[in-house]
Amino acid sequence: MGIGSSRAIGEKFTPAPILVFLVILSSFASGCAAAENESQIGQTGQPEQKASVVSAPSALPGSRPMITDEIEPYSGDQRTLVVYFSQGEATRWVAEDLMWIFGADIEAIDEKRERKTNFINFMLSGFQSTFKIPSRIEKPMFDPADYDKIFVLSPVWSWSLSPPVRAWLKTNKGKLPKAAFIAVSGDTKPDKVVAAMAKVSGATPLASAGFAERHFLPENRASYLELLRSVVDPMR
Ligand SMILES: Cc1cc2nc3c(=O)[nH]c(=O)nc-3n(C[C@H](O)[C@H](O)[C@H](O)COP(=O)(O)O)c2cc1C
Repeated sequence: MGIGSSRAIGEKFTPAPILVFLVILSSFASGCAAAENESQIGQTGQPEQKASVVSAPSALPGSRPMITDEIEPYSGDQRTLVVYFSQGEATRWVAEDLMWIFGADIEAIDEKRERKTNFINFMLSGFQSTFKIPSRIEKPMFDPADYDKIFVLSPVWSWSLSPPVRAWLKTNKGKLPKAAFIAVSGDTKPDKVVAAMAKVSGATPLASAGFAERHFLPENRASYLELLRSVVDPMR
């Protein structure tokens, strides 16, 4: 298995008229912060504790068990690529678990300009996502055409596909092998993001899933594993 990632250097953001921009951005702020706090029933039928973060990159609790102790590793000889962008930790967690299960190569998409996590950049990220503006990314290390199957993972930003993953999918349109698409959010349904991934890539996914931050809480581990299996099993 290989790990691919390159460093950020410089990106020009396309400015929009300031006034329109500020109005739209303020709506992102209020919208993204509007999370529900109750617990809900997970795939296992058990109540899940809610995580509170929906308006920032994730910061997950400590370490987690080795995934191959809990989900049987893939034993075939097909080659798997995992491609993701993660500004926090959640999307990377899922990507790394898939890497271990499938013995996959893994590509962390790098933007040409490092995206900071302050308020202005949070707003810019939401703006770019909503208006489907792909970011400028470094040349990927791996070519999806060299693989039998691929997992592509994106954080949900402003209820939308993140700009770096949009850029990667656009670059590789028509080149994806058997694919699974995964959206990782504070607590947003994945349908819109998965549909955008399919449209931009020209690929119909064999499986898809939406992880929310509550799935990463230790007490919700059973739900996390259940959800992961729902994309892993069809891709074996
Ligand atoms: C710019 C920005 C916009 C976000 N918008 C949403 C959103 O619309 N809905 C949601 O549930 N979570 C939203 N989030 C939260 C992220 O989806 C969530 O923290 C996810 O786990 C981030 O993945 P990462 O930790 O791999 O970066 C947003 C986060 C950021 C930074």
